[in-house]
Amino acid sequence: MALATRTDRRPSLARTVWDSTVGKKTVMAVSGFVMLLYLVAHMIGNLKIFFGPEEINHYAHWLRTVGEPFMHYEWTLWLIRVVLVVAVVAHATSAYQLSRRDIRARPTKYANRKAGRSFATRTMRWGGVILGLFIVWHILDLTTGTVHPGGYEHLHPYQNIIDTFSTWYGNVVYIVAVVALGFHVRHGLWSAAQTLGVGSRSRDRALKTVANVLALLLTAGFVAVPVGVMTGVVS
Ligand code: HEM
Repeated sequence: MALATRTDRRPSLARTVWDSTVGKKTVMAVSGFVMLLYLVAHMIGNLKIFFGPEEINHYAHWLRTVGEPFMHYEWTLWLIRVVLVVAVVAHATSAYQLSRRDIRARPTKYANRKAGRSFATRTMRWGGVILGLFIVWHILDLTTGTVHPGGYEHLHPYQNIIDTFSTWYGNVVYIVAVVALGFHVRHGLWSAAQTLGVGSRSRDRALKTVANVLALLLTAGFVAVPVGVMTGVVS
């Protein structure tokens, strides 16, 4: 009786999908979509700052009690955090592996390395790195308070946000990140639609418009907060 050797074993379906280029692109699209849903909700939640401290501080409390009594305090929030971490890791890993594959697949090396990559590809890569660094800084600023410029107070986002946007560097970091986010979402949505095979000319045009409008709304919604603090509308 022949024993099964390592080479006889068939790879699992998940492995086959993950190893294929289209599989990695699908992972990018789905994880990107999950993060986008979170960001739309986060942007809308942040706008509560324009309705006063009670409204946004109460919202921070609600985020921790949602699902009670079935869920314990903060369980839903932790569930969302786990989903987000999985999405970020899947998105970044597939992006990195696709870019390695892209470099290996080139028959000749470009004399000028930059000439081989499109503007969009470079923008997506650098945009992704900027956003990754921003998220780490942002959590240390407004979730843990580690690098927060004022006396950070847990469950008091109103004052915490004002403290952050009362510094010049807080405004610069947030606005640069949010503009990078707008470009990333715009191109990402467009690429995702192509990966998932939407493509007909009229639908492509409609999709480009949706991607532009969504990226613009997201950027404007996030930028409104630092601008609100800088102009004294929120104080
Ligand atoms: C002006 C723009 C933004 C403001 C004012 C803002 C505000 C906040 C605040 C106050 C928190 C803490 C919430 C709490 O603990 O109750 C938070 C958490 C967070 N924000 Fe933002 N945010 C902004 C933009 C962004 C962007 C652009 C991203 C992602 C690209 C992002 C991702 C996150 C994440 C991942 C958390 C951690 C959530 C958690 O696990 O507690 N935020 N944000």
